[in-house]
Amino acid sequence: MDDALKLNRDTARELLNRFGSPLYVYDEEILRTRCQQMRHLLQYSGFHPCYSAKANSNVELLKIIHEEGFHADAMSPTEIALDLEAGFLPEEITFYSNNIPQSEMLEAVRKNIHLCLDSLDQLDAYGEIAPHTAAAVRINPGIGAGHNQKVITGGQTKFGISLDELAEIHTIAEKHDLIIEGLCMHVGSLFLEPTVYLKASEILFHTAMQFHDLKFLDLGGGFGVPYHGEARLDLTAMGSQLDQLIQSFVQTYGRTIEIRTEPGRYVSAECCQLLGTVTARKHNGPVTYIGTDIGFNVLMRPVLYDSYHEIVGYSDSTKREVSTVVGDICESGDILGNERNLPVLQRGDLIGVMNAGAYGYSMCSNYNGRLRPAEVLLSNGTVRLIRHRDTIESMLIQ
Ligand SMILES: Cc1ncc(COP(=O)(O)O)c(C=O)c1O
Repeated sequence: MDDALKLNRDTARELLNRFGSPLYVYDEEILRTRCQQMRHLLQYSGFHPCYSAKANSNVELLKIIHEEGFHADAMSPTEIALDLEAGFLPEEITFYSNNIPQSEMLEAVRKNIHLCLDSLDQLDAYGEIAPHTAAAVRINPGIGAGHNQKVITGGQTKFGISLDELAEIHTIAEKHDLIIEGLCMHVGSLFLEPTVYLKASEILFHTAMQFHDLKFLDLGGGFGVPYHGEARLDLTAMGSQLDQLIQSFVQTYGRTIEIRTEPGRYVSAECCQLLGTVTARKHNGPVTYIGTDIGFNVLMRPVLYDSYHEIVGYSDSTKREVSTVVGDICESGDILGNERNLPVLQRGDLIGVMNAGAYGYSMCSNYNGRLRPAEVLLSNGTVRLIRHRDTIESMLIQ
């Protein structure tokens, strides 16, 4: 938490006065620091991190991440377009597809973007539209990790090709004259302890011995950040353990190949604070509710995953109280933070939500007809609008 973006009350007030509330505020320096840490995860010279744009696909942030030497993944044609717009070259982008139609596969192939296919059927569908090409496949290593059942992807989930179906990958590849150029995996999102990731990596290295034309192995993302005062993930220790595994894999495989990771959250979570305004306070029974303009259309994680985000109260009061911070969406579940110890907040005071840069704006919606907020970037003492707030006019266009 000490490493996350913090804003003082005057800055928060100035930013909201100028850009409106609520507002996503990003800090370039923290973003670059996180990129550099991830870039140096491994000593292995064939290492390349690919940023997972699903965590935050603001083009201005993508440009910075590209400048820091990352490649990128995309989960949809729109994310491909955003990656390209930010300056990633087609060969630096992988379309990490899941249950997509052949039309989307074709669109990517026409743009010279390589795909990672998530099932035998999708590999077959790809082979039909792009025979005699190269593609990667996603393996399900059989074990998973993550902060919530909904984001654990290894094991019994809809993702990947299971280890007992490897022979059929070869059969389909032969049928369409495909080269299997990469094996990918992703155990899930947000681990602060690397055991499962390392174990799954070993499984992937072992699996790779059955594929002789590989150009790369992608170990996936999921690197966690501390939202609630937990110890930081020890990237140095994790990196050196991975380096050892890679070294022995390369020896057995007989040649070096590219090794990728696919971090999203680790790169973009901590550089952002989401600012909002207190619009009402009330007592219902024993509970004090602080009403704000940050509904779950603005930040979905607490409602979707029961995720904890630290909330800062910007108030004149020196007194504190336990209150429940809620949004402006017409649902009882619209709770940003339950029973928080905060300064006494009155209408017009401000709040800040920490670590909001990953799966924050990218999960925003217009539910209840609410407008998605603006985004601004702080760089070297300057502030720049990097996305306009929605307008009611833009919502009326069908
Ligand atoms: C296939 C894949 N790769 C990478 C990521 C990025 O995960 P994270 O943001 O936890 O690093 C995800 C997110 O769930 C994913 O599904």
